[in-house]
Amino acid sequence: MRVAETMPCQPPAQPARVFGIWPLVPAQDGKRRTMTDTMPDRGTAASLLPRRISRRAFMIGAAAGSLAVVGGCSRSPGAIPVTPRAEAIELVEAKRPHTGRTVRATLTAQANTVDLGGPTARTLSYGAELPGPLVRANVGDQLEVTVTNGLDTPTSLHWHGLALRNDMDGAAPATPDIGSGSQFTYRFSVPHSGTYWAHPHTPLDTDRGLYIPVIVDDPRERADYDAEWIVVLDDWTDGIGASPQQIFDQLRSPSRNGMDHMPGMHSMPGMTASSDSLIGPDGGDVTYPYHLINGRIPAAASTFSAKPGQRIRLRIINAGADTAYRVALAGHTMTITHTDGFAVRPVQAEAVLVGMGERYDAIVTAGDGVFALVASAEGKDGLARAVLSTAAGRQPDPHLRPAELTGRVVTVDDVTADPSVDLGELSAPIALPATLTGGMARYDWGINGRRYPDVEPLTIHEGQHAILRFTNQTMMWHPMHLHGHTFQVLNANGTRGPRKDTVIVKPMSTVDVAVVADNPGTWLVHCHNTYHMDAGMMTHLDYA
Ligand code: C2O
Ligand code: CU
Repeated sequence: MRVAETMPCQPPAQPARVFGIWPLVPAQDGKRRTMTDTMPDRGTAASLLPRRISRRAFMIGAAAGSLAVVGGCSRSPGAIPVTPRAEAIELVEAKRPHTGRTVRATLTAQANTVDLGGPTARTLSYGAELPGPLVRANVGDQLEVTVTNGLDTPTSLHWHGLALRNDMDGAAPATPDIGSGSQFTYRFSVPHSGTYWAHPHTPLDTDRGLYIPVIVDDPRERADYDAEWIVVLDDWTDGIGASPQQIFDQLRSPSRNGMDHMPGMHSMPGMTASSDSLIGPDGGDVTYPYHLINGRIPAAASTFSAKPGQRIRLRIINAGADTAYRVALAGHTMTITHTDGFAVRPVQAEAVLVGMGERYDAIVTAGDGVFALVASAEGKDGLARAVLSTAAGRQPDPHLRPAELTGRVVTVDDVTADPSVDLGELSAPIALPATLTGGMARYDWGINGRRYPDVEPLTIHEGQHAILRFTNQTMMWHPMHLHGHTFQVLNANGTRGPRKDTVIVKPMSTVDVAVVADNPGTWLVHCHNTYHMDAGMMTHLDYA
């Protein structure tokens, strides 16, 4: 356990943060404001566990040990010069729920050797285990997560999917990166319940071992399940095949000579395409030596133990860099209940398609025996697996592809927001066009023909409604992600889709999403394919 006891009161680690991209002006009314003015911090210790979830819920075991709930500490306020933007951020933060409870965690990003279940890999991670430690809080809790940068390059921790305050987003330029050897404490109220994750927003490090699951509970929500299984998917090459940098250099080199011979690469799109792929013929740009569930290769799969008849909540997170997965539990039907943290009208599925950055939650009623949970790499060869065990029995064959994988596969097109989270009718929405451009040949992925950071930002005013239109003019699929907001997918046939923060946009197709501008700041919009993003498929959504 890293931090398990009440910590003494300490002043904020960054008493005077200022923004690099907005002019610093004094508050209009001449009053000095402090970061803590609007943030109650009179915590009371309480259990981290939702009542009906057993200890088993924490499949990531000791990971829960890095969390601490502490109380009775009020921070000494440090004076902060306030920009109009910072002021707007504070106002919105004050309107977020506040329980008065603080959940603290510490993470150190550094070079580690991780055991993938036989093969070991030298990589960058938050410890010897993949994924890194779980961070878990209730809606309205104050999260205070201190990240120490033990790398020789800058890092950050982006809270993927959380509609949090802009200056704690963990992605430059809203939050400055953390220099080598430095520390930063992310402090924010947690706005919504659900399944999230966190990862750095620095080039190529999103294809290494720096990722953690983030779970937010809502104590008012009836937890209609007995156990919880967090399932983190990842495509793996670092320390085994080509490094992310080698892969990126090869992808960008004008003549991809030698690519066929480099482990971890495949030369041209379509090489390993499977004809029934739900994302088009080209599954991705990289062939990975391994696909992992919770840090383990298929031959050394992790086992989740439960009792027959128990209702298990799966929280599936795709932390991969270039691979969508089709996930099925052999011998079971799943009820999909949430995507990207937000409730959907429950829908039955035999398998579910999960792009990079996406999450799906599902309930299964455990059968009696030993069952493979398989994540098949969509449009590629290879699979990741874990095992559900509720009775003695033979281990399933590591190569087994359960029949459910070709049964009813739920995608974003099959789910609708639960009425409680529907964004409602938009009033006078503005159009935000994001045309996805570029291609494999020149590896010039971009948005609206521009490559980050040379972009024309999308702009919006606080309170405005918008339709963000992703028009994919490329031959490749892209999982498009918006920071700081949960949009609502508007289906082509006029029906309402789910609330999401990451949506798969298939080749040569268009996806409209409704956005309500309620979280001022400067936010990134990008493809969650690590290599596309680093090639430039990213822009800003700026509040004017
Ligand atoms: Cu998962 Cu811009 O992030
Ligand atoms: Cu992409």
